[in-house]
Amino acid sequence: MNLLLMGLPGAGKGTQAERIAEKYDIPHISTGDMFRAAIKEGTPLGKKAKEYMDSGHLVPDEVTIGIVRERLGKDDCKKGFLLDGFPRTVAQAEALEQMLAETERAIHFVLNIDAAREELMARLTGRRLCRDCGATYHVIFNPTNVEGVCDKCSGELYQRDDDNEKTVGTRLEVNINQQQPLLDFYREKGYLRNIDGSQQIDMVFESIDDILGNLSNSAVKEIYQT
Ligand code: AP5
Ligand code: ZN
Repeated sequence: MNLLLMGLPGAGKGTQAERIAEKYDIPHISTGDMFRAAIKEGTPLGKKAKEYMDSGHLVPDEVTIGIVRERLGKDDCKKGFLLDGFPRTVAQAEALEQMLAETERAIHFVLNIDAAREELMARLTGRRLCRDCGATYHVIFNPTNVEGVCDKCSGELYQRDDDNEKTVGTRLEVNINQQQPLLDFYREKGYLRNIDGSQQIDMVFESIDDILGNLSNSAVKEIYQT
């Protein structure tokens, strides 16, 4: 199953991606996570991405497209993939169409998580992540059992550098500007499915699961059997 997960910052892409990847056994590919890993390792890619990420702007298309092309070429993507946060511009979407066509693959669904804009600031400034396993929490909406400690692996929680009010403001503005043409691009192709992301986390996953469950029962079997 080849999936794209779209939505404004804080819509819940990472939260839902963890669950989708686990249930449907496909690799979760987040461009944001890839950039953060490169920054941590101090690679040339990380050095290039850091200034854009810290200010809330998009990393240039040619850099982003390059890392996705490389990642989608890895063996684990043969069984499918879940792209989270890519594409974010029409140029990225067009490049993705081309790279998939070259390898005779196609997108099954573009899942767009739509959440009320007023809620996104609160979601992002209250987000906490596990340093060890990467699990996502929220101080109010999805707290851990013990404050500051991951429920899954007992790792230490931290806050992302770009989750401060000023940078979140820029991220929202930048992404709102890019969103509509991308949604139009995928709506015209018939891939787009809108998910109500203002529901509780479990309910959002149920809505996604309903869509994917139907696909894995019918279309995917057809695609893989032919
Ligand atoms: P990236 O890491 O992708 O960040 P983002 O798009 O800003 O999205 P987030 O990860 O912040 O939000 P999310 O939707 O995953 O929300 P989450 O599930 O964590 O990108 C970071 C940067 O990298 C970009 O700014 C850019 O510079 C660069 N970049 C990345 N991709 C790029 C690309 N393709 N092109 C160019 N540059 C790129 O949830 C948020 C919080 O809300 C959590 O605390 C969670 O617990 C809570 N929550 C989730 N769902 C719910 C719910 N239903 N109800 C209540 N709370 C909820
Ligand atoms: Zn953890």
